[in-house]
Amino acid sequence: MGEFEQKVYCFLVLFAVGCAYPTKKLECNEQREHVCEISNFTIVESMDLSEYEFPDHPHLAFGTFPHSDDSTYVVTISKELADLLQSTEKLEMQNVSLQSMVLWQNLRSLDASHNNFFELFVEPGQNYQLRELNLSYNRFQAIDFVQALPALRTLDLRHNYLESLDFSLFDMATELWKLNLANNRIQTISTSGSLHLPRLSSLMLNDNMLSVLDASEWRFSMLQELNVARNRLRYLSMCEVNHSFPHLQMLYMDENRWDCGHLNATMRQLHLLSVKPMSYYTTEDVEPCPKSVEEICCY
Ligand SMILES: *[C@@H]1O[C@H](CO)[C@@H](O)[C@H](O)[C@H]1NC(C)=O
Ligand SMILES: *[C@@H]1O[C@H](CO)[C@@H](O)[C@H](O)[C@H]1NC(C)=O
Ligand SMILES: *[C@@H]1O[C@H](CO)[C@@H](O)[C@H](O)[C@H]1NC(C)=O
Ligand SMILES: *[C@@H]1O[C@H](CO)[C@@H](O)[C@H](O)[C@H]1NC(C)=O
Ligand SMILES: *[C@@H]1O[C@H](CO)[C@@H](O)[C@H](O)[C@H]1NC(C)=O
Repeated sequence: MGEFEQKVYCFLVLFAVGCAYPTKKLECNEQREHVCEISNFTIVESMDLSEYEFPDHPHLAFGTFPHSDDSTYVVTISKELADLLQSTEKLEMQNVSLQSMVLWQNLRSLDASHNNFFELFVEPGQNYQLRELNLSYNRFQAIDFVQALPALRTLDLRHNYLESLDFSLFDMATELWKLNLANNRIQTISTSGSLHLPRLSSLMLNDNMLSVLDASEWRFSMLQELNVARNRLRYLSMCEVNHSFPHLQMLYMDENRWDCGHLNATMRQLHLLSVKPMSYYTTEDVEPCPKSVEEICCY
């Protein structure tokens, strides 16, 4: 080959390589108004995303939930992908086999329910705006990331794998309004130092394995609804209830191991404080228990 032919050959090779990796533009479905829905697409860990162009849209959805969709997988949101999604403020990715994700500052609302999600990465010192976080039906065992999310208003962690929890993680979550920790395997909740959550209005702890609820360090001055149904509690400290939850209105307490003597006294004090004791689970199919106080079983 002469020099000229060599140059042409090189050019052709480069051109061919360039053509083999064009930018692939991901298109939004027309299914939902104001939402850019991306389906029929797979993102796995080892993938090179530089060849894709993601839509620049404030409200993105991966997958077609609640409609059945087995064509869309987003196994991980890497740092690289998080950087590409900077302008997205609202993200839905339900039932897409998600396992881990890097958060970005502008994201305000994330619904990642019904996945295998167990790790949400945050960087210290970032100004995260996340307000609504739905992680229900996943595999979280630890939630240290909440420390980096001072703007959180609702956190749904129903149906995860939590076993113990340090409530001091919520120290900075002064905007937190609703916290749902139901249907986990929580045996202990600890708190180091006093914890003031001035806006918390609803706390769901039902269907866990709590045998003690130590609220002595809590001051949840706006809490209206507390659900401890289906745990292993024998008694509640009414002194703590009065002090920690001064605005409590509803207390769900069925399906525990209440001591009858205590429960009897507790009920009287609840009425004095205008707190309504309630049952959360319908007990129609269950055999009536041998002893009860106001339809709450005791032993
Ligand atoms: C899904 O994408 C593949 C190419 O990646 C295409 O061949 C197929 O027709 C698409 N299916 C639907 C339902 O859009
Ligand atoms: C998730 O998607 C699969 C199909 O990929 C479907 O079989 C399953 O029912 C879906 N689960 C939920 C909770 O929607
Ligand atoms: C979170 O997602 C689940 C399942 O997709 C849904 O039932 C629930 O209402 C959502 N939680 C909130 C607080 O919106
Ligand atoms: C509840 O606490 C207040 C002060 O915080 C007190 O005045 C009141 O007597 C207490 N009520 C009961 C029933 O313990
Ligand atoms: C509750 O206390 C009342 C009297 O204060 C008593 O008559 C009743 O038997 C007690 N019930 C139980 C289940 O201990």
